[in-house]
Amino acid sequence: MPSHRTAYVSDTAPGRGALRAARSWLHSDAPSLSLNGSWRFRLSPTAPVTEDFAAEGFDDSGWNGMPVPAHWVLQGDGAYGRPIYTNVQYPFPIDPPYVPDDNPTGDYRRHFDVPADWSDAERVVLRFDGVESLFKVWVNGDEIGSASGSRLAHEFDVTSSVRPGDNVVAVRVHQWSAASYLEDQDQWWLPGIFRDVTLIARPAGGIEDLWLRTGFDDGFGRIDTEITAGPDAFPVTLRIPELGVEQVWATAADVAPLEVGGVEPWSAEQPRLYDVTVSTAAESIALRAGFRTVKIRGDRFLVNGRRVVFHGMNRHETHPERGRVFDEEHAREDLARMKRFNVNAIRTSHYPPHPRLLDLADELGFWVILECDLETHGFGDLDWAGNPSDDPAWREAYLDRVQRTVERDKNHPSIVIWSLGNEAGTGANLAAMSAWVHARDTGRPVHYEGDYAGEYTDVYSRMYASVLETEQIGTDGSRAPLMGCTPAQGARQRTKPFLLCEYVHAMGNGPGAIDQYEALVHEHPRLHGGFVWEWRDHGILATTPDGTPYYAYGGDFGEVVHDGNFVMDGMVLSDDVPTPSLHEFKAVVQPVRFAFDGDEVAITNLRHSADTSDLRFRWRVEHDGTLVDSGELEVPVVAAGESARVPLPRIPVARDSETWLTVDAVLAAGTAWAGEGHVIATAQLDRSARRPVPAVRRETDWRPNDGTLTLGIAEFAGGSLVRLAGRDVAGPRLELFRAPTDNDEGATDEVKESDASVPGVSNAELWRRLGLDRLTTRLLSVERAAAALRTISKVSAANSALSVIVESVWSLVGDELELRVEIEPSRGWLTVWPRIGIRFDLPDGAAPVDGAEWFGLGPLESYPDSLRAARTGRFSATIRDLSVDYARPQETGHRSQVRELTLTSTGAEVLRITALPDTHGRRPGFTLSRHTPQQIARAGHPFELPDSAASHLIVDAAQHGLGSRACGPDVWPEFALRPEARTIRLRIAAG
Ligand code: GAL
Repeated sequence: MPSHRTAYVSDTAPGRGALRAARSWLHSDAPSLSLNGSWRFRLSPTAPVTEDFAAEGFDDSGWNGMPVPAHWVLQGDGAYGRPIYTNVQYPFPIDPPYVPDDNPTGDYRRHFDVPADWSDAERVVLRFDGVESLFKVWVNGDEIGSASGSRLAHEFDVTSSVRPGDNVVAVRVHQWSAASYLEDQDQWWLPGIFRDVTLIARPAGGIEDLWLRTGFDDGFGRIDTEITAGPDAFPVTLRIPELGVEQVWATAADVAPLEVGGVEPWSAEQPRLYDVTVSTAAESIALRAGFRTVKIRGDRFLVNGRRVVFHGMNRHETHPERGRVFDEEHAREDLARMKRFNVNAIRTSHYPPHPRLLDLADELGFWVILECDLETHGFGDLDWAGNPSDDPAWREAYLDRVQRTVERDKNHPSIVIWSLGNEAGTGANLAAMSAWVHARDTGRPVHYEGDYAGEYTDVYSRMYASVLETEQIGTDGSRAPLMGCTPAQGARQRTKPFLLCEYVHAMGNGPGAIDQYEALVHEHPRLHGGFVWEWRDHGILATTPDGTPYYAYGGDFGEVVHDGNFVMDGMVLSDDVPTPSLHEFKAVVQPVRFAFDGDEVAITNLRHSADTSDLRFRWRVEHDGTLVDSGELEVPVVAAGESARVPLPRIPVARDSETWLTVDAVLAAGTAWAGEGHVIATAQLDRSARRPVPAVRRETDWRPNDGTLTLGIAEFAGGSLVRLAGRDVAGPRLELFRAPTDNDEGATDEVKESDASVPGVSNAELWRRLGLDRLTTRLLSVERAAAALRTISKVSAANSALSVIVESVWSLVGDELELRVEIEPSRGWLTVWPRIGIRFDLPDGAAPVDGAEWFGLGPLESYPDSLRAARTGRFSATIRDLSVDYARPQETGHRSQVRELTLTSTGAEVLRITALPDTHGRRPGFTLSRHTPQQIARAGHPFELPDSAASHLIVDAAQHGLGSRACGPDVWPEFALRPEARTIRLRIAAG
């Protein structure tokens, strides 16, 4: 039985005691004292029945130190429990509002000195910027109050309990509470005091709260000021030195809106901020104001009268060592990285971030959807029975959450939409939140994806809608029903601006099809873009028993229930490395579009409002990837939404090599987030002269043979290649398998557009059932001609009647060795295939292959539905760098459309391979890896891959697309690889 002392743990009320009303997080010159630092700490496995630890004289000398801010599960190397990762599941019984008795509870204590001159303060306030999940506070033994709402700020009035000199604060934090039911976001559960704790002296005659509601219209800025202060605070002076504004209001009744001329507007592209101070005799508040007006007109979402397209990221607060503890330098670098990758918007999934993040967003320039700390997704599995969102018992908690959200951050120009939360079903409490926001802030619309019928929100939002559905949403008069809507509701939704609050799920290798979504945005103005799920992987830095560091995901901490690596779905890896998908995103959403037309190029500025005066346009011409000429285009300044046509430079066209023109739009000067010359947009033009492909030489004098012979640099035994250029080689063998990506393992029903996938069954599962990972070969024939060898094999898997016939012809063409492989599937293959490739295994010899140079698409990996970041050029990489370290090893490293490939060993050329196009002009891709697809597929983490100095070269006639079926649609049919006959033709020479 819980004691009366712990009954509050299952209280649905958001707080008790001397909790104060929510207000802005302001930069004030009133005195304050950070209580961050080392606190005394004790962890109990259940909520202790006594509260004696809160007494002033309690002896905590036996306790350990615990940093604040921190999550206790990330401290002490497991001494204080472990993180738990779940997506939808609650890690405790669904028995609202109760939580189990096993409820890790942290008791914190520390001393602090209140300066003597604080005795002038009218009030002393103790602020917590984030505590997960429920906490209770005592000062000098007095019980002050309790609060929940982990990612929200709470302030307590401690005036009557503090005294000058030494004081003791005690805080009890429960990992689980009624509030945990409202905090079921897809992330780690990380208890503790994880944001700042501050003691604040509130001066008499100070400003309790302040709201500068700014607007911008026709060159005029508008400020509508709301001052929350007592009559003794007046006169109040508002100053904007840069604009020459100095406004004094003698009384509260005088406070009136201001119009200011000569103002530059704020936008995500040009985040113009003005320093503002608002002062009384006792206190001065400093803000940075940006002038912008947010409006919905019909189905358009406008800022300063212009339509906004969100190229956004869902941003969680996550760090491999700190968890959700904020680090400003790291956050700034992360936001600068977003800017460098053409990201212009952030949804703060799924809670308010540390308040400083919004200062950074104002300053660097992002459109922000600020989301409340709310999710009850676990009730979805119960068909939403008992969902707090529709239960009056939780109404106060819902309202409290959204009030704390809006009040804290209301001054930020970057915030253009409020979001009620995520995946909390629907119900009266959400509608009440929305009503409160509408009443409080008429200057920003309300978003909540779960309001499918559009009953209480202003924008229409969906997550993971397929390309076709998205197109239907953008199209007027479409009869296609919208998800979760009656026809009438669907019609209403089509009158609103639409955004994808989550799309292109970036788990592991993928997503594909980013460009298809982007194309729709330019065709249907109702579609306002979206927010990638998500920015970063949430890996937690851990070490194996032998000391190897790795990024842990669900299940790595022995959790009872967990959701595995579903928490590793970012475009940036846990260690800050951008994945190829982020490069793809950057290329797809680039704000400048180039269209080549004869001897001209049309340059279109796709930005919201900024012109191109910050850009320069560089060009270069390459012959087979080697630079032959370069310069700069003369481009007039192009206004947002406009185009200019400019002549191309003279392009010297080569006869024996490919001729490519590349144009880059680069920053003309450094910015806060990138240096001068940083590339923001690129395009290429193929000006190659046509060159004939050497015809296949058909031998006629084939005779059966034992297949033991030498052809130039190739040595064969029994029909099999055994040595190439003096090196041991095995293969080539047919390889149809790739280590399944997270998308290949996805089993969503979203396969409507693909008739080769099965709803509810992953493609990876189908491939395993077919035995694509365990193919066997039967040699049917070996023949030779004067300077050629031909083998025919039948490749199939145990217990399968399906097969593939592989004909390999090795021949000497002059002194060059040619390999032509014809691959032909039997009838009856019904699924897609991961790849159609041939694999060469190069064992680790004296000088193992450790790198590649190639002319083809690069520099990063690319797949049929993710090719936009790839350009044609000459590249090189070490074998290590050819693969991406996805948190769960999977297919990686494919370089498309290769023309020439050289394998190297410590810089020396080992083998030179030329890939000839097939009769359709298609060229193969390659991967070079230390591991086979089968080895990669067996590893759950990078450290599980065996040590290897061998190398495996796979030349792929084709690869299957990526799609985003880990959480979303399958590969689009055009990019799905169906079993089909393919030819691979290579010329191979010694290095
Ligand atoms: C969404 C959810 C996100 C995340 C994502 C999948 O449904 O809002 O929090 O779980 O799916 O990674």
